[in-house]
Amino acid sequence: MKAIEIRNKYLNFFKAHGHSVIPSAPLIPENDPSVLFTTAGMQPLVPYLLGQPHPAGKRLTDYQKCVRTNDIDEVGDNRHLTYFEMLGNWSLGDYFKEESIQMSFDFLTKELGIPVEKLSVTVFAGDKDCPRDEVAATCWKKAGIQEDHIYYYGKDDNWWIAGETGPCGPDTEMFYDTGKPACSPNCQPSCDCGKYVEIWNNVFMEYYKDEKGYSKLKQQNVDTGLGLERMTMLLQGKETPFDTELFKPVMEKLTELQKVDKIESRRIIAEHLRSSMMIIADGGRPSNLDRGYVLRRLIRRMIRHMNKIQIDLNELSTIIDLNVDNLKDLYPELDKNRETIKTVLIEEKDKFVKTLANGEKEFNKEVAKLKQQGKSIVDGKMVFRLYDTYGFPPEVTKELAVENEMEISMEEFDKLFKEHQEKSRAGATQKFKGGLASTGEMETKYHTATHLLNAALKQVLGSHVHQRGSNITEERMRFDFSHPSKMTEEEKKQTEDLVNQWIQAGIPVEKLEMKKEEAIEQGAEAMFIEKYGDIVTVYKIGDISLELCGGPHVSNTKELGHFKIKKEEASSSGVRRIKAILE
Ligand code: SER
Repeated sequence: MKAIEIRNKYLNFFKAHGHSVIPSAPLIPENDPSVLFTTAGMQPLVPYLLGQPHPAGKRLTDYQKCVRTNDIDEVGDNRHLTYFEMLGNWSLGDYFKEESIQMSFDFLTKELGIPVEKLSVTVFAGDKDCPRDEVAATCWKKAGIQEDHIYYYGKDDNWWIAGETGPCGPDTEMFYDTGKPACSPNCQPSCDCGKYVEIWNNVFMEYYKDEKGYSKLKQQNVDTGLGLERMTMLLQGKETPFDTELFKPVMEKLTELQKVDKIESRRIIAEHLRSSMMIIADGGRPSNLDRGYVLRRLIRRMIRHMNKIQIDLNELSTIIDLNVDNLKDLYPELDKNRETIKTVLIEEKDKFVKTLANGEKEFNKEVAKLKQQGKSIVDGKMVFRLYDTYGFPPEVTKELAVENEMEISMEEFDKLFKEHQEKSRAGATQKFKGGLASTGEMETKYHTATHLLNAALKQVLGSHVHQRGSNITEERMRFDFSHPSKMTEEEKKQTEDLVNQWIQAGIPVEKLEMKKEEAIEQGAEAMFIEKYGDIVTVYKIGDISLELCGGPHVSNTKELGHFKIKKEEASSSGVRRIKAILE
């Protein structure tokens, strides 16, 4: 049975049992900045589980698009996915355990045709907060589950809550016996040897947990979730979701295109591509913040693995088309957003290729040095330097270290990163204060010149250049930026000339206000993105520069006069400093 048939059977079955079919909520939660993505079918329904009436009634069913990224590093094995589809049905204070269990049993055995002896179930064993769920066990027996296929477990296994607080309750989980031999005489559904696979989870949501403890909700709800990819795989007798029609065409194309055979890489590419496409179709864009950063990580990891198995990155567009065509019946939004998906993915790929080339070269150089010295640890300083100077993602450094059989000190990196953030914040506050205290005419000009210099350095030296510090007096400007080596005379000259060209061109300086996300999306420069609020001021100088900044600035570049670099020197490791004046 194909995934789409399973989905349709599910929705039709629950529709026939009085449920309204509601649409999947978008992956990017509406009005909820507290979570990155929709992670479960119940998430958009929380207000209704708490008692607010739902316009579609008390019995609901849907398929929900979900992204969970806490296991992102596990993708590549035979089961982890960051994107998955959850089929669900809900009772909002309507039916409870008996009817829910009977419907699940009927759907599994009659609609999907799973032989009853292949099913096992688990129920809550009981503790001080909530009694042993004999009711659920009795319902299962009545429905037709053998007594010795019913297991009792504690909160670790049979209690469901999203996060730390919120609606929750004991659950009953259904397991499918793959028919693999038991790993031991004690092999049970809780065992992860692979014999038993969890297929469905019915939560009897009648509690609420807050900091103080558990209390009863106004109503008894049922919240169930069935993973579509997993069910598809089991019903087709496949070992992994990658062997089902959801991934197979892409996996085969990757096999055809690769020059190095590595199944983990193919899975990572196929999986991350699907996730990224779904996120982009729902409006997500790569950035350095929160959701945007998760998307960026997914895309970057995919690209890195394309490189690893030597797939020409120009094939990305073909692979996207193939994936859209393969999945468009399940998700028409992919087809509708095909061009956007392509543009976003390809632009991000191009950006990353530049970053990767610089960073990987540097990594290899450093590792060769370490190996020569007989060392086997990549220390946090090096991870930080690669990040700081080349924008090289720490998780990529980690993967490279593992590939090179080196140990890596991520704790040290995390510490340095925090220190750096704190220092930057302190610096920003100070600078801001200084700026407010005295911003005469000359200082204003130097502010604008700083933006031009930043943009010119990027053009001359490369996109790895980012502002690391700035100090302005009435007499001069000082600008610190990430760059690994001394600038040549030629580079200095080119930079100076560019800035002067822009000054002479008389370009207007515009002050804009926009949402932070939007600014990032448009590629705005920002030194301390995390310190800004949701609405930011952005200064735009023609097509040359777009920077988050409090100002003030001149209104046209022609006011600046003539720009001259007085000195270029090292500031700290990986950071250069320019002193310049306006004459
Ligand atoms: N909320 C439960 C889960 O995510 C059941 O839908 O498993």
